[in-house]
Amino acid sequence: MSVTTITLLGSTGSIGRSTLDVVRDDPRRFRVAALGAGGNDLDTLERQVREFSPRRVAVAGEAAAEELSRRLGRRRPEVAAGPDAIAALAADNSSDCLVNAIVGAAGLGSTLAAIGAVKRICLANKESLVAAGTVVMDRIEREGTELIPIDSEHSALHQCLDGRKREGIARLVLTASGGPFRKLSAASIASASVGDALAHPTWKMGRKISIDSATLMNKGLEVIEAMHLFRFPADRIDVVIHPESVIHSMVEFNDGSILAQLGETDMRHPVRYALSYPERMSARGSFDLTAMGPLTFEAVDKKRFPCLAIALDAARKGGTAPAVMNAANEVAVGAFLEETIPFGAIPTIIRDTLGVVPFIESPTLDDLLGADLAARAEADRRVKNGVEEEAVRRRKG
Ligand SMILES: NC(=O)c1ccc[n+]([C@@H]2O[C@H](COP(=O)([O-])OP(=O)(O)OC[C@H]3O[C@@H](n4cnc5c(N)ncnc54)[C@H](OP(=O)(O)O)[C@@H]3O)[C@@H](O)[C@H]2O)c1
Repeated sequence: MSVTTITLLGSTGSIGRSTLDVVRDDPRRFRVAALGAGGNDLDTLERQVREFSPRRVAVAGEAAAEELSRRLGRRRPEVAAGPDAIAALAADNSSDCLVNAIVGAAGLGSTLAAIGAVKRICLANKESLVAAGTVVMDRIEREGTELIPIDSEHSALHQCLDGRKREGIARLVLTASGGPFRKLSAASIASASVGDALAHPTWKMGRKISIDSATLMNKGLEVIEAMHLFRFPADRIDVVIHPESVIHSMVEFNDGSILAQLGETDMRHPVRYALSYPERMSARGSFDLTAMGPLTFEAVDKKRFPCLAIALDAARKGGTAPAVMNAANEVAVGAFLEETIPFGAIPTIIRDTLGVVPFIESPTLDDLLGADLAARAEADRRVKNGVEEEAVRRRKG
């Protein structure tokens, strides 16, 4: 068996750690060539460097790189700082594979840098495809780089679609757990706390995707991701609530037959699939079908979860709309996590930002990056205005 060398970006996060579990399980098959992270969790990164001995490491900030170098001492790997250094790791063609597990549109530069350099990109960073899906997929096709999704829904679709003729497919069906607020009223959702929103019922994930799951924006991002990955129109990608999270997604064929992929809620499964495709690696244990209980399905209520409706509109509109929506969502989710805005303000900020940032129908990459920046500035302004208005209201009241 040949060794697969991996560049792992976002190594300290939830997907990053799952990826290293998979590597740890099969050290003869995988070798970690490089690690990258934001630099906010140096304890974890230091432990990872000591355990996996990568040749190169990069973090987002200068101070974190200096501190990491100091901690690792003289026998350290090359440690670099800044977004360009992280993208340079992604572009290193001595690795076979990039696992992009960076959170947010900050991961786009690395996805683009890896195209044409590595043989395979295993993509957890869905925001790359939301912010610039057409550009990414055009380059992927031109360069012949393999793109295998890590998102569990897209991994499920990849497995169901594998080798099947597109003409026979009626629709893709993404399943959603419904998040922690599935049964709450609109008023209770609007005033939910950070703790409530982070308490996902079935998956343990990073903070940003946990909030996206509570607003159901995550499902909207996934519709856009699926649209680009599988070159499928948004109006033939449906979302169904499936609270047990056993079926990860489905493909319905023209004859009414449906293929579904089932499995545990453990991201090591899609990571393993993405790293080893088309082979199947062995995983420990077997999924106990008799222990999972009944499987249920519900329609989505877009009124209580307006972020999903906003994302589906942006998917249909195309152009710069998904990039603007994604950037505004990142700003609004960040502000909610800092407890600067209420949960209910997230969709308002995104919708208002979409209404202000100029729309471009056929954007270049520069247009998309510009739209992302403009949306961040606009959403930030709206967060600050909201905070000031609230302060005035409190003083008056
Ligand atoms: N978690 C899941 O189960 C899951 C499932 C499907 C898809 N995804 C997708 O996978 C991606 C990662 O999610 P996650 O839950 O693993 O997030 P997470 O736990 O928050 O981890 C994010 C990782 O990205 C790093 N990072 C943040 N900003 C960075 C920057 N500017 N440059 C380089 N690295 C940066 C973080 O480093 P620091 O630790 O230094 O901040 C951390 O290593 C997201 O796109 C998410 O939507 C996640």
